[in-house]
Amino acid sequence: MQKNYKITTAVFPVAGLGTRFLPATKAQPKEMLPVVDKPLIQYAVEEAYAAGVRHMVFVTGRNKRAIEDHFDLAYELEFELQATQKQALLDLVRSIQPADMHCSYVRQPRSLGLGHAVLCAEHLIGAQPFAVLLADDLMRGEPSGPGVLTQMADIFVHTGASLLAVQTVPDDQVHRYGIVVGQPAVNPIEADTGELAQSRLLTLSHIVEKPRASDTPARTAVAGRYVLTPAIFHHLRHLPPGAQGEIQLTDGIAALMRAEPVQAYRYRGKRYDCGSKLGFLEASVELALEHPEVGAPFAAFLKTQQLL
Ligand code: UTP
Repeated sequence: MQKNYKITTAVFPVAGLGTRFLPATKAQPKEMLPVVDKPLIQYAVEEAYAAGVRHMVFVTGRNKRAIEDHFDLAYELEFELQATQKQALLDLVRSIQPADMHCSYVRQPRSLGLGHAVLCAEHLIGAQPFAVLLADDLMRGEPSGPGVLTQMADIFVHTGASLLAVQTVPDDQVHRYGIVVGQPAVNPIEADTGELAQSRLLTLSHIVEKPRASDTPARTAVAGRYVLTPAIFHHLRHLPPGAQGEIQLTDGIAALMRAEPVQAYRYRGKRYDCGSKLGFLEASVELALEHPEVGAPFAAFLKTQQLL
């Protein structure tokens, strides 16, 4: 029987401390910081929904209640908007949680690493493949092209192999990422499949978390989107904890790779590292310039400042 490789569940690990954004993140989640007018977590949830995901699982921690509230009914707000006939705003608020989207929440009691956060969601996922989206990586497909998770889901439906989004990074960034090595593989959906050397798909032979650039010639880095088979849970459970008791997702994937094929995909599109102040500012400027309401006046403002 043909297996079902459709992705219907996504995990959003949002239990990190967000220390790079202190003091903003002292009492509010990093994932609720808005890029222009939409919180980071909503960009990620919309990307997952567009890829066909309908069950969103948030791995939360202390100070993260705003995320639950954001994806819940805001009764008083909706009542007010209705009473004052602000229909456009009412539609906007209601569109945050479409009727066929379901949210689950599970707590990660301590920030014990991304692998540990994913493991906390195991009982809500069971024996099905699932996506992991790191909301602080704001990912966009090419203009009028599919989103990054949609691109990955379209490949996974053919291969059934765990898939990591990757991109090339400069030497001075290598130490900040999971770095992979792999061989070009046949991409089941791209027209360029004939040209293996051009393939955006790699079958991985090696993955290492945050190496020194001098320790590896590889420059292919994992971005914050994964599609994983449920076998990952077994490997995460049996990992020896790292230095601060942390369980790294990268180590789980390295173990998974020894048991079954794991692939990487050079996504089409752009990533903003919104976990860092600079990446967040870049995203804010670029998305503001495209915004239907403020784009034109914002561009005019930048011109007066001789910034453009
Ligand atoms: P980061 O290390 O980038 O996020 O983890 P952080 O720890 O929140 O931020 P800084 O470095 O202190 O500024 C990547 C993602 O994994 C989640 C984070 O919430 C973030 O979305 N994460 C990380 C967890 O959910 N649990 C963890 O134990 C660690």
